[in-house]
Amino acid sequence: MSQHLDSRLLLGVSGGISAYKSVDLVRRLKERGFEVRVVMTQAATALITPLTFQAVSGHPVRTRLFDPVAEAGMDHIELARWAEWLLIAPATADLMARMAAGIADDLLTTLVLATDAQVCLAPAMNQHMWRHPATQENLETLRARGARILGPIDGDQACGDVGPGRMLEPIEIAESIRPRAEPPLAGVRVLLTAGPTREPLDPVRYLGNRSSGRMGYALANVLCDLGAQVILVSGPTELPAPPVVELVSVETAAEMHAAVMGRTTACDLFVATAAVADYRPASPAAHKIKKDAAELSLRLIRNPDILAQVAALPNPPFTVGFAAETREVERAARDKLTSKGLDMIAANQVGEPLGGFESEDNALTVLWDGGRRDLPMMTKTRLARELALLIVERYRERHAAST
Ligand code: C5P
Repeated sequence: MSQHLDSRLLLGVSGGISAYKSVDLVRRLKERGFEVRVVMTQAATALITPLTFQAVSGHPVRTRLFDPVAEAGMDHIELARWAEWLLIAPATADLMARMAAGIADDLLTTLVLATDAQVCLAPAMNQHMWRHPATQENLETLRARGARILGPIDGDQACGDVGPGRMLEPIEIAESIRPRAEPPLAGVRVLLTAGPTREPLDPVRYLGNRSSGRMGYALANVLCDLGAQVILVSGPTELPAPPVVELVSVETAAEMHAAVMGRTTACDLFVATAAVADYRPASPAAHKIKKDAAELSLRLIRNPDILAQVAALPNPPFTVGFAAETREVERAARDKLTSKGLDMIAANQVGEPLGGFESEDNALTVLWDGGRRDLPMMTKTRLARELALLIVERYRERHAAST
């Protein structure tokens, strides 16, 4: 996840019955661009399983201080440094008391002492416990130390009481930490090519390639999520259509070229993920070629380079290309970045056991003028998100420089 766009939030879950609402809270926080990691107290694990939080946050959940396996990954001090926000929801009376006293007898209270993060508390407890002078004094101590207190509210309680002590609803907690922002690509028009092309030899045969279109479709989905209006020009694939404003289905490179060149004026960002055939049969046969001859030669002619032509337009959009290479990946990609006049290129190694065209996973090295970033092996869906965030970052930087 890009650390430039998303804030790092550690969610502490203590043992109140409203812990079940914190599952939804993770989702709401992620919708607002937070990367969320979860720490639970032992009491919280009696109410809800760490696996549930792991599934919604996408990260392993920490529950113990002295956990050799977890500590070998990101130890608790690193975790405390990683966090920009420490949100505790629900915060029980007991947890607030231990925090106020500076006790560090479990992972969560240790993190409270070890972090510089902004601490936010969403208290939840029985109304008597909330009103108790000990709780109120602890609350004031924590507030005076800079903690932000979110709620609680008055209402029906799980124990049957009515009064103050109900945890704020997840959406209200998430909103008070960060309101849902306008998506980063709102109003940005994206033209994206994806999939393979097919170059006919005769009415039944074609020259093709191994592109599945997965990377391009995953990227189209993420760009739509980020608020862009996406036009997808796609070669033949088996994939379900992303929520784009227009899907143009093509077969050949020439059709893809025409579809793209007719739409460049209404486009701010051009992303070429398609595996376009470089050559096509010079004269496809009108009828099925018979196997009479012992040998058959094909004469191929060059297809237009769609990406290079878009980048060479007088007023080009921000252009992003892909380079699938079998060797010297980075050098070849850097050459293409320059020779095609691109703003950015994403390079990957193909023909290896891991990653590449037909795989679910891939890794990329992203290059631009004066910069690079490695995106390690991960699913194409996650990779698309990482790449899209990087594209947003570079696109915005270019726009900031030109305005
Ligand atoms: O030169 P090469 O084919 O390796 O460049 C790959 C990049 O150029 C990809 O982004 C691909 O979508 C784009 N391309 C194109 N038209 C072509 C060939 C490649 O848009 N005819």
